[in-house]
Amino acid sequence: MTPPGRTLISSRRIKRRIRELAEEIRVHYRHREPLTVIAIMHGSLFFFADLIRLLPAKLEIECWNISSYKGKTSTGTVQGLQSHKRSYRGRYVLLVDDIFDTGLTLDSVIRHVKTLHAKEIRTCVLLSKKVDRSKEIVPPDWVGFEIPNRFVVGYGLDLDQHYRPLPMIRVLD
Ligand code: IMP
Ligand code: MG
Repeated sequence: MTPPGRTLISSRRIKRRIRELAEEIRVHYRHREPLTVIAIMHGSLFFFADLIRLLPAKLEIECWNISSYKGKTSTGTVQGLQSHKRSYRGRYVLLVDDIFDTGLTLDSVIRHVKTLHAKEIRTCVLLSKKVDRSKEIVPPDWVGFEIPNRFVVGYGLDLDQHYRPLPMIRVLD
């Protein structure tokens, strides 16, 4: 199968950037524990797995199935939060997502985790699209790459569930 579109970010660049991000994240959490790292599935699957393996082992992980996209457009509503109800009182929480687009997904997850009393909530995304967002949307704390406002697939990101296994990020034409 010929992969669709063209390569925007090679797997080598992704690897290198994740090492840098992990170093910054390690420094931040050096004296902050206990830590729960939450993967926003499925898009962050590979990013999450590669990132946490470079962090100190004494952390707890969770995978949340959250979705808002159908095809190439955001549906505007985020589904899948209500089943997560445990308390994070006294815990540091790091949310890991594949891509920051409208910001609605992470904003909804942050607001939900706040109601569960986390001590601190930080966010890390592999990609962030260069788009105008409303002032209320808080930017992620760590961003791997800023990319143009185009639809991308690969390294976990999908178009209707396809292309997630590609090792690089590709932009569809
Ligand atoms: P947001 O809520 O608009 O910030 O979108 C975040 C979610 O939409 C991400 O976690 C992705 O699952 C999905 N998404 C946004 N842009 C893209 C894209 O270009 N390719 C694949 N998925 C995307
Ligand atoms: Mg997603």
